[in-house]
Amino acid sequence: MELPELSKSLADQIKKRQPFPVKSAIILGSGLGDFADSLEETVIIPTSELDGYPATSVVGHSGRVIFGKSDGKPVLAFQGRIHFYEGHDIKLTTLPVWIMKHLGVETVILTNAAGGLNRQFKVGDLMIISDHLNFMFRNPLIGKNPEGFGPRFPDMSDAYAKRLQGIANEVALDQKIKVQTGIYLGLTGPSYETPAEIEMFRRLGADAVGMSTVPEVIQAVWLGIEVLGISCITNMAAGITGEKLSHDEVTETGKLVQKKFTRLIKGILQKC
Ligand code: HPA
Repeated sequence: MELPELSKSLADQIKKRQPFPVKSAIILGSGLGDFADSLEETVIIPTSELDGYPATSVVGHSGRVIFGKSDGKPVLAFQGRIHFYEGHDIKLTTLPVWIMKHLGVETVILTNAAGGLNRQFKVGDLMIISDHLNFMFRNPLIGKNPEGFGPRFPDMSDAYAKRLQGIANEVALDQKIKVQTGIYLGLTGPSYETPAEIEMFRRLGADAVGMSTVPEVIQAVWLGIEVLGISCITNMAAGITGEKLSHDEVTETGKLVQKKFTRLIKGILQKC
């Protein structure tokens, strides 16, 4: 089944259990899934109960679709992503974005764990993504341009909506949460980068690197969904401090920042 039909079938299954309409959604990155625990009136749908949803296999990414209210504001949260490095087609990694479109979502917050390249950054920092570099060298829009959705050649000059970046900065200031702003560079993984690669990416202007988000952003922009991207700097990238990288560190840092991450997201959801 092609993505428009597969996502429609999954959205129809989800609609049967949907408790209220939602206009905002969030995709929770590695180690950031606990945000969902802060929601009220939740309806939790394990993706394993959805016929046709691909199985997730990564530790720290339980696959769940969650409806909930954040201080009264309805939100749809996806816990666990579909990663390209799991062997899926690049198009399939954007399935959650397609599903949310069918459910009427207009704004999405895409979050991820990322390695920091910018030497001003510290482990545990949150970074508002201002733009990206696509080093996955894959584009989910390649192929036929399905009728009735977006244009063949979508503009990407405001992919990370300045309006939402403004809101995120306002909330951060209000709540005295320090945030960074920077460029996210997306790679396929699953191996981490070499120090030489990181030095090259730093010279190219990247502030953080990770293995997700870029295809989802392209798909969301094409579908007309407004995007905010937030990275949690879970580690400094290879060669920056000389320490070795591990997925355990990524998920552990995620846990340490949960509180401020949740506060920031809840604040943003109130305003967007
Ligand atoms: N590199 C790539 N992806 C990542 C990293 C990293 O250092 N940290 C978390 N995700």
